[in-house]
Amino acid sequence: MKHLLSLESLARADMDRVLRDAARFKRERTTHPRPLTGQTWALLFSKSSTRTRVSFEVGIHELGGRPLFLNAGDLQLGRGEPIKDTARVLGRMVHGAIIRTYAQQDVEDFARFAGIPTVNALTDDEHPCQILADVFTWEESRGPITGRTVAFIGDAACNVARSWIFAAAKLDFELRLASPPAYQPPPEVLARAGARVRVTADPREAARDADLLYTDVWVSMGKEAEQARRLQEFQGYQINAALLREARPDALVMHCLPAYRGKEIDEATFEAHAGTIFRQAENRLHTQKAILHWLVS
Ligand code: CP
Ligand code: NVA
Repeated sequence: MKHLLSLESLARADMDRVLRDAARFKRERTTHPRPLTGQTWALLFSKSSTRTRVSFEVGIHELGGRPLFLNAGDLQLGRGEPIKDTARVLGRMVHGAIIRTYAQQDVEDFARFAGIPTVNALTDDEHPCQILADVFTWEESRGPITGRTVAFIGDAACNVARSWIFAAAKLDFELRLASPPAYQPPPEVLARAGARVRVTADPREAARDADLLYTDVWVSMGKEAEQARRLQEFQGYQINAALLREARPDALVMHCLPAYRGKEIDEATFEAHAGTIFRQAENRLHTQKAILHWLVS
């Protein structure tokens, strides 16, 4: 039984296959095979979503299956039914599950108890589907990411940064994380990632000669109570024209979205790179179709 629970646990060969197939699903959007024909896949979401929800619902439909969106708050899960019981019920009724929640352990438990292919659609720890789409977006315009330099500016302890860390270890590119000291990834995560990741508190040092500048929100879902403190502490960690001047002249700028202008990125830089950023959003669809195809093959 295959699952996509984290980038850390995804084998390099499987990652390569997903990235390769994403290009084919994009090219052959209307003619590709429909491996989910006759299947129902549940989307079980405890947090808000625009891109992930829509791209999975459309992707499952285009692969021949039926998406079933379940807001966790509307289920008995929201009234305290354990995840392992929810998993054992859904596992008898649907063919696969896409889960967005808080604790990584909940996705791991769901996969174990449901016995159906399970996808992490964002937890507090990781956002593997996002980073696969990001790498695909880089590679479709610039070729292999191996050997390149990616600078992540912002909350380097968040799920998106952590999946970038494991991607760097697997795909052998340099990842520089620029974050205030209190928001840097824990040493044990860095230790698991190998030698390709560097952490600094200086965004300019991270951005210097980088091929790709990347950012995410300063206040992730679930961290709303820390908003005021975070907005203060992340001042200076914005992607803007001054920071971009440190990078290579042809550097790409990416944002996983949603974007908060004037916070992690300024309006002018966001709009100047909107072509890349919204292609990145579109590529969630194509990459996730490749993930679903891999899961059932
Ligand atoms: N980037 C991303 O996962 O977007 P959503 O939260 O809208 O799904
Ligand atoms: N780090 C962000 C990603 C949103 C797609 C969050 O968890 O809210």
